[in-house]
Amino acid sequence: MYQYYAVIYQLLLYLGIIALVIYLFLPLQERIEQFYRNKVVWITGASSGIGLELVKHLAVLSPTTKLVLSSRREDELEKIVEELKLDRDRCLILPLDLEYHGDLFKSKVDLVLDRFDHIDILINNAGISQRSLIKDTQYSVDQRLMSINYLGTVTLSKSVLEHFIAQKHGHFVVVSSVSGYVGTPSRSTYAASKHALHGFFDALRFEHEKDNIHVTVICPGYIRTKISENAFS
Ligand SMILES: NC(=O)c1ccc[n+]([C@@H]2O[C@H](COP(=O)([O-])OP(=O)(O)OC[C@H]3O[C@@H](n4cnc5c(N)ncnc54)[C@H](OP(=O)(O)O)[C@@H]3O)[C@@H](O)[C@H]2O)c1
Repeated sequence: MYQYYAVIYQLLLYLGIIALVIYLFLPLQERIEQFYRNKVVWITGASSGIGLELVKHLAVLSPTTKLVLSSRREDELEKIVEELKLDRDRCLILPLDLEYHGDLFKSKVDLVLDRFDHIDILINNAGISQRSLIKDTQYSVDQRLMSINYLGTVTLSKSVLEHFIAQKHGHFVVVSSVSGYVGTPSRSTYAASKHALHGFFDALRFEHEKDNIHVTVICPGYIRTKISENAFS
């Protein structure tokens, strides 16, 4: 008799868990769809890892969202659009290299505006990591890390900021890292570049709250992507 009750109890427990998951998942999916409906979302680092997963999820969860996909490797971005069967009307492949931010990326912003008329969200995800002790790290590595992770991201964001101010809304998302809070061995300049992003975007949040411009800084822990193999040493 006791065994009989135990089986029923377990069955009810599992059914309850399944119902709870369905209950939590459905509204979330709807909320995501509502939040991104008809928005223009520009994702940097879209060719790999976290950026690619974002593209995949937005492609499915929010079919009305217009996607701007950026990274250096145009061929890789083309492949992703093909593989995901993304409607060309809802996406723009916009190759850019954050390291070369001298032209202020204004021409890139203009290309997005020509195509989609406005930008709602810029997801600053592209970045490069480091695997070298301070004593072994060349100046050129420090310079490239700061140039890509910090200056490139800031310069692109400043180019978009003008548009956000004019349209009186906008959202900057910044993919930082736990290294944005604490430096760890072999990640000195990587951590510094992420700390620098926190300082810049905290200031931007204060300066432009009045313009209805939002800033979200995300600090993931370790995620298995190509970041380690692409890291500077
Ligand atoms: N994975 C983790 O454990 C982890 C943890 C915390 C934070 N993060 C952060 O998450 C972000 C994405 O990293 P991930 O893990 O997805 O790494 P990933 O797979 O190596 O992806 C990095 C992306 O950045 C792009 N990129 C690299 N250099 C660029 C440049 N100079 N200009 C433009 N795009 C460039 C790459 O595309 P191309 O090669 O085509 O340019 C790629 O799409 C990074 O900012 C990273 O710091 C990652």
